[in-house]
Amino acid sequence: MIKNLLQFAQETAAAIATRTANAAKVTVKSHNSYNNGVALTPPMGWSSWNTFRNKISEKLILEIANAMAKSGLADAGYQYVNLDDCWQSSERDENGRFVADYEAFPRGIKPLVEDINKLGLKVGIYSSNGTHTCEDLPASLGHEAVDAATFAEWGIEYFKYDFCHNKPFPTSAPFIESIIISTADGTEIAALSANRAELQGHARLATDTKHPNEYIIGLSSNIGSATFSSIEVPEDGNYVLSVIIRKKGQYYKYARVIVNGKDEYDMYAAPTRGSTPDGRLQLNIKLKKGINTIRFFNPFASRMDAAACQYTRMGEELKKATKEYAKKNDTEEKPICYSICEWGFNRPWNWGRQAGNLWRTTLDISANWASIVAIYEQNVRLAKHAGPGGWNDPDMLEVGNGDLSIEENRAHFALWCMMAAPLILGNDIRRFIDEDGNVKSDDEVLKILTNKELIAIDQDKLGVQCRRHKSNVKVDVLVKPLEDGETAICFFNKFGDKSTESVSIRELLPTEYCTLPNTEEYECRELWTGEDFTTDDIITNTLDPHSVKIYRIKAKED
Ligand code: GLA
Repeated sequence: MIKNLLQFAQETAAAIATRTANAAKVTVKSHNSYNNGVALTPPMGWSSWNTFRNKISEKLILEIANAMAKSGLADAGYQYVNLDDCWQSSERDENGRFVADYEAFPRGIKPLVEDINKLGLKVGIYSSNGTHTCEDLPASLGHEAVDAATFAEWGIEYFKYDFCHNKPFPTSAPFIESIIISTADGTEIAALSANRAELQGHARLATDTKHPNEYIIGLSSNIGSATFSSIEVPEDGNYVLSVIIRKKGQYYKYARVIVNGKDEYDMYAAPTRGSTPDGRLQLNIKLKKGINTIRFFNPFASRMDAAACQYTRMGEELKKATKEYAKKNDTEEKPICYSICEWGFNRPWNWGRQAGNLWRTTLDISANWASIVAIYEQNVRLAKHAGPGGWNDPDMLEVGNGDLSIEENRAHFALWCMMAAPLILGNDIRRFIDEDGNVKSDDEVLKILTNKELIAIDQDKLGVQCRRHKSNVKVDVLVKPLEDGETAICFFNKFGDKSTESVSIRELLPTEYCTLPNTEEYECRELWTGEDFTTDDIITNTLDPHSVKIYRIKAKED
């Protein structure tokens, strides 16, 4: 008895230790990358949120799309016109499908997409991985398949998935007493008690004094599983799985049910309120003629696991929906660039590449210097996670917004290009066109946003985010390898005083983030001023407050 008690205590301690360790990391792993063929370089476009918030309409969006086409922004590479929050009505239609705000988008979204496509541009849309969006409108958690199909049918090509009103998967599992398999007409085929299950990991049987039936514990937080493997049915078909659970705990519980190693089902148990000891959870499942196996476990050890799984599910639905729509309508597939927006809460850089095409790494940006520097500081450290098909997203641009000075606007844009960030404009681009319909080509903000040499740094095919090579108190030196053996170097003065800094190209040569060959002289071009010069090693700069110098460097040809 004492030995048993001791063993029980040791096992419980081991299970708790595993559960605690798992809670701090992502344990649900997939090794496939999202691989939908888009965002091989960081996506470029415009979004309604930073300037227009909840005041958007079809008229505004069409004006924006026209301005994008006319101003030269489209030619510079910006292609997505993204509706952020508040495009939708507060009700879904009778088939549970999204509807656009009746007043602001009276024709619905599909005709708007067609109009914008005619301008050679693509359309993006927004929802939240929760019951509601951040502006409390209907959202997609639990509606993934229908919403993905709706977006594919509308011709959407970019999708931002926010995190407000999220309900994570519970990390606790229900306590299983037995399972019963029956046919749809109620005939019982098999009944297996807990002791018939094969238990893996920390799963084991328990009893309590009041109720004699044994039940399975230790299925929570990815620490154990239970498999019933002798379920025989007479023919292939749909069956009812009833799981008898011991009611315990004032919290939600979840089990993943895997039938025959492949079909997956979700099973939820509510916080218990009932006065009876046993509860019943039911699923309609598919079984095959002969012997079947059913496995129960909870794969979620942390909130990171839950978020990774929910974002992955939506991504899979998007891929499925665009493929099915193309097949059904015999058209070319329009893959959807999938933007994950959970503000870096669940370390999306660790799982985002498998789930989608880009992932926000920070909270929302604002049009002021402190916000831009804070976001840069967070995002610049995550360089190793970015690459073709999957990008760190330090949020949409505020260039041209608030009271950012021209130097600050230039610095913001250059930093985002060095960080291989998505370039999603957040300003009112209609103001680049004057009353007579002419492009204001002298506009300093337009010149920044269409600077082809800066954009080429962002869009470089190698797809490597810059590394911070050096950081003295005031000036950071960033280095980004480029294709064809060229390299970009950016000096960034974050603070309010003039400051001087230099960098040695020779010191950079052996680093992994410099692709320059070892040669006698280098040609350098400062991309804002167009100043060209050569050097055999050192570049020195005195930088104004809140400013950058950004160079494209290559070996000097003989
Ligand atoms: C969140 C996102 C923003 C924007 C708003 C819309 O805050 O991070 O980028 O989409 O929601 O409500």
